[in-house]
Amino acid sequence: MNRDAFTTTLWQDDFNIRIPGEEISHDVFDVIIIGAGITGITTGLRLQQAGKRCLILEAHTACFGTTSATTAHLNTVLDASYPELIKKFGTDNALLIAQGAKEAISLIRAHIEQYQIDCDFEEKTGYLYAQNKEEDAQLEKMLEGMLAVGIEARPSLTTPVPVPFTTAIRVPGQAQFHPLKYLSALLLQFLLAGGAVREATMVQAVEQQDGIQEISSTTGRYRATHVVYATHIPPGVNLLHFRCAPYRSYVLGVELADHAYPDALVYDIEDPYHYFRTARHQGAPVLIVGGEDHKTGHEVNTEQVFRELEAYARRFFKIAAVPYRWSSQYYEPADGLPYIGLLPGNNDHLYVATGYSGNGMIFGTLAGRILCDLITGNDTPYADLLAPSRIKPVAGFSNFIKENADVVKHFIGDRLSAGTLEAFAGLSVGEGRVVNYENQSIAVYKDEQGRLFTLDPVCPHAGCMVQWNPAERSWDCPCHGSRFDITGAVLNGPAQKALQPLST
Ligand code: FES
Repeated sequence: MNRDAFTTTLWQDDFNIRIPGEEISHDVFDVIIIGAGITGITTGLRLQQAGKRCLILEAHTACFGTTSATTAHLNTVLDASYPELIKKFGTDNALLIAQGAKEAISLIRAHIEQYQIDCDFEEKTGYLYAQNKEEDAQLEKMLEGMLAVGIEARPSLTTPVPVPFTTAIRVPGQAQFHPLKYLSALLLQFLLAGGAVREATMVQAVEQQDGIQEISSTTGRYRATHVVYATHIPPGVNLLHFRCAPYRSYVLGVELADHAYPDALVYDIEDPYHYFRTARHQGAPVLIVGGEDHKTGHEVNTEQVFRELEAYARRFFKIAAVPYRWSSQYYEPADGLPYIGLLPGNNDHLYVATGYSGNGMIFGTLAGRILCDLITGNDTPYADLLAPSRIKPVAGFSNFIKENADVVKHFIGDRLSAGTLEAFAGLSVGEGRVVNYENQSIAVYKDEQGRLFTLDPVCPHAGCMVQWNPAERSWDCPCHGSRFDITGAVLNGPAQKALQPLST
């Protein structure tokens, strides 16, 4: 199946989600959900089962975006550590988040049991390890934090990976699954419950008229009482674009010569961290190795990042082959917690879920529950803590300033540092670059046949300059993470318009 990048993930290699074509009524839906990833599908199913009439609109195909590039960890050990969450939000709120992570895993397990989904779901123990004195102290604090929020964890003298460590902890109650097998079954249940899906529908605008949300899109107009942006980051320019920073994360799918595959989810605590787990693909084990994250658009040589990750893995594992490698994008929230609820600065019927860090399967599932509760008028314990309009001047301040300063730098700076005309002439096949040509910045890509594709590199979202991503053959915007293919078409929002072609 297709996804938003050039590389192929383990999950999409031999799996397709097929949606039967059907006539979509243009009546007023109760809820239109924009985006058919884990958030959109889970939210749609819960709402449809709660009696709401739902339509999911997807710009490409179901699970085209980050959902198909996840490494599908289901963990209560979140990217934001519990000591950090306790410090920023208090113990009760950190406890609530830990409860939310457990609840997300329980919801997935319940779906799997209820619908008899064969999706390679397995409970696993998690391991975290330190590699020096400083990390020992950090890991000890992490253990204290986990125990304070009711997560079962204890010191371990061993880990299941051959990476040297100084101290380690083990955390039972984690899990893993095949995300596309799971979500295709959930999508089928959504359709069986009467929900509707329309793919290849890029939403262009949502406007409120007489209390109804009017959606204009590339396949026509749709109307609903409520709208949910399950688009990873909402479109338009919104407060959340200044509270979420886009990052890219890298993954290898590895065959081991000695078959010493770890039967656990394993993480170091470096920054950025590395992680390991074993998946099964076509009956054979595959070691998943992840890490080397960086801010989107901040790494010129993304091929080199893959090479570094592979070199790191080869230091410890006997690698026979690396049949899979892929990268994907996630959004780091300013204060460590996702934003799930009403979209700030809009009417009371526009909802959003974003800023999941590297915990998309957990928060995407939890968002389904929260958004359903909010829209159906039920109480949800998470509403205030995760409200997108929350003000956390202390909790989010330093990150907010850092990421925001980065946005400002790219608004101004990139135009001055573009490449040169010589670089333009020196392009290899398969290479892209932003160059200056007669005082004009041009995003230029040369394909395998030597054809040049030239685009205006100014991101139509808010005017930053895109950067070439050689590994995924896409133009990536460093400011809020919009991504475009070689023709300029939108791969990921928040941009809703393509990069404009230039004639050379
Ligand atoms: Fe916001 Fe490009 S994504 S300016």
